[in-house]
Amino acid sequence: MASRRTFLGLATGATAAAAAAFRDDGLDRVLAASRSAEGTPPEALAADESYWREIQQAFTVNRSYVNLNNGGVCPSPRVVQEAMKRYLDLANEAPVYTMWQLLEPQVESVRRGLAREFGCDPEEMAITRNASEGLEAVQLGLELKPGDEVLTTTHDYPRMLTTWRQRERRDGIVLKTISFPFPPPSLDALAERFEAALTPRTKVILVCHMTNLTGQIFPVKRICRMARERGIETIVDGAHAFAHFPFTHADLDCDYYGTSLHKWLFAPHGTGFLYVRRSKIAKVWPLMAAEKKQDEDIRKFEEIGTHPAANHNAIAEALVFHHGIGIERKAARLRYLRDRWMKRLQGQPRVRIHTSFDPAMSCGIGNVQLEGVDIQKLGRHLFDTRRIIVVPIQHDEFEGLRVTPCVYTTTDEIDRFAEAMEQVVRNGLPA
Ligand SMILES: Cc1ncc(COP(=O)(O)O)c(C=O)c1O
Repeated sequence: MASRRTFLGLATGATAAAAAAFRDDGLDRVLAASRSAEGTPPEALAADESYWREIQQAFTVNRSYVNLNNGGVCPSPRVVQEAMKRYLDLANEAPVYTMWQLLEPQVESVRRGLAREFGCDPEEMAITRNASEGLEAVQLGLELKPGDEVLTTTHDYPRMLTTWRQRERRDGIVLKTISFPFPPPSLDALAERFEAALTPRTKVILVCHMTNLTGQIFPVKRICRMARERGIETIVDGAHAFAHFPFTHADLDCDYYGTSLHKWLFAPHGTGFLYVRRSKIAKVWPLMAAEKKQDEDIRKFEEIGTHPAANHNAIAEALVFHHGIGIERKAARLRYLRDRWMKRLQGQPRVRIHTSFDPAMSCGIGNVQLEGVDIQKLGRHLFDTRRIIVVPIQHDEFEGLRVTPCVYTTTDEIDRFAEAMEQVVRNGLPA
């Protein structure tokens, strides 16, 4: 294994200029590491610490924290932060010109880049500020009549459920939620639950591509096919799926897909996208009003008034960084890190793992409960004693800690979490 000094590429007595160059060239090093790893299968590379050390150094995170909540919102790598700062500075020179006229039109390159990544036409790709904005545009913008039913799950995201509940109060629609065992016995079992809950009044299905609670992946294509055969619209909540594991729109075939880009793409905070199947654009009202002539234009979902251009333009750099690693490698590493702690804790007394180990059903997100241990107190204990950041989740059906490592997470950080959990397994929480 390379020593830290060799890894940094700095000779003894290296100049400050060389150190500064290292800080600035994170992307070059990622690309060089990826080139040298060409031909290594992603699963083998997932355990190659010298490769991942290069990726870790591309982030400016504070290592006094063990941040295992990257699913909430993720830090961006340095190359993205730097781009965003450059764009912000330029925007501030004379915003009416430099932001509106120079920077804003560049969002079209971002649209093309995201469309290529997702596998759709750029004219189906709206750039939003987050998943909530994109998903709510569709949830609130679809024409629904009193008595029309929307079907989703009890594990869908609270904000998306709140949106339907507001429509229940306002428009008289009916929200139906299905529950499911977690981990479920199979993907087919999940699709069958949806099928069994459909009625002639079902007009829309909202399904998470991957849930935020346990990281369960859903059989989206099968659900969408079933829905289409019955004339039902399909909205997929991809907040945790996009840029986390490999897929394109062809693997889903949904009508609408909303995601955040500040989670797994590591784009600037306040970025997301909404995909709308071209034939459906005209029928969805945007959240903020647009002119009649924009009815069929995907950009009608971007009519939000004055907003920073820097955030959405730096999505372009996040895409380059993402390609520098490669989605197969990224998914394999995230799964490897997740498995490292889940396999270690699995089988220990009182440990309940709520996430499937099946790669078709999960990736980097894991959820664990220590039976008899108060989940909020456990979360606080991990932070107070070791500065470990995880999410204590209290849901109507269960509770557990959600743990989401990132590509910058070290195996040592994972082990520190596992060790802290083992200590609580053995001794309980301090009084
Ligand atoms: C499944 C799911 N959907 C939607 C959202 C909303 O994302 P945002 O807050 O970025 O809009 C989240 C956020 O964590 C989520 O986990």
